[in-house]
Amino acid sequence: MSHELMRSILFILTGIMLSLTALATQAGDTPDKRPPIKILLDTDPGGDDVFALLWLQSLAKQRVAEIVAVTTVEGNVQSKYTFANASKILTLGGFDAVEVGRSVPLKERKCKGAPHIHGADGMGNLSQTLPKPPHNFDEARRADDIIIEKLKTAPGEITLVAIGPLTNLAAAEEKSPGILAKAKEVVIMGGAFHRRGNISSHAEFNIYCNPEAAAKVFASRDDIVVMPLDITHQILFGKAQANAILAVAPQSELALFINQLSEFMFKTAQMFRATDGKIRFIVHDASTLAYLFYPETLQFRRAQVRVETQGLYSTGQTLFDDRHGAKTGANAWVALDVDETNLLAILTEDFKALVKKAPCRYKPESKL
Ligand code: BDR
Ligand code: CA
Repeated sequence: MSHELMRSILFILTGIMLSLTALATQAGDTPDKRPPIKILLDTDPGGDDVFALLWLQSLAKQRVAEIVAVTTVEGNVQSKYTFANASKILTLGGFDAVEVGRSVPLKERKCKGAPHIHGADGMGNLSQTLPKPPHNFDEARRADDIIIEKLKTAPGEITLVAIGPLTNLAAAEEKSPGILAKAKEVVIMGGAFHRRGNISSHAEFNIYCNPEAAAKVFASRDDIVVMPLDITHQILFGKAQANAILAVAPQSELALFINQLSEFMFKTAQMFRATDGKIRFIVHDASTLAYLFYPETLQFRRAQVRVETQGLYSTGQTLFDDRHGAKTGANAWVALDVDETNLLAILTEDFKALVKKAPCRYKPESKL
């Protein structure tokens, strides 16, 4: 081959490569060079917790999040179940190597959980259809010990996302005072400010289940990010979203599981009149990830949040002062407005990406 011909071929090939790179960049395919957000998730799965954990796995697969650990807490169901559920959902998405911590035992059980909403097993009675996970409850480390170790090892780097009662976070703070201040951020789902509660007329479930723990967490730093019922009640996952996810991977066990769990959650949402008659369910806990990865969907108010721990009728109520005054004692950023249409569309797209990539390891046996 002549030199001339070789140079022409090289020239053409370089041109093609450059055009392909430019196209990929336009399509957003270039990997994001910023380091992923390191997340330690504290959770009590729970149907909406499952959605948050799956969304987190999608974000981790997209390399914008890193799952440092998942700690479980007694809440929606008892601690053995929340542990097993988190472990199974991580396995389902291919993240079984992530450490799962077990709940700090409650000194006193204040609430009976929410099996009437989430199913006796916390996952729409579907957990038996999932494979046996690798994590073992009896051998697992306690959640507070994991939180302390991770935050000490990487101060200022890890974001704590808490989507259950705040028992584990408060226990970590009690064992190692000042530890929560070492988190990059603390983002919680909990509270109700301008709307009624969901476990009592005034209180939201996560705060009500351990109000003293919540008060301790709110006292631990001055920038707690709060996702209350005020916004989560607008984030309603429905059949349209579930079907859109299933349509991209109809053979995917994960997509089928998402569909079956949604069906269960639609029914209990109806039964307990949570969604104003709409056949949807509220994905409360997913809001925390919306804040971290798509903050343009939310608006916040700076406030001093207080937790009622002594109320005769209002235990677990969260309050802030609505009057206009200097926010000198503020300890939180409270989300009060959400662009639910965009948030739901984003979540659905991220779920589609996840089901396309998730490993196929099992065949669900039972249907609802
Ligand atoms: C919160 O209570 C639980 O039932 C949900 O998982 C969510 O974390 C909503 O009030
Ligand atoms: Ca939860």
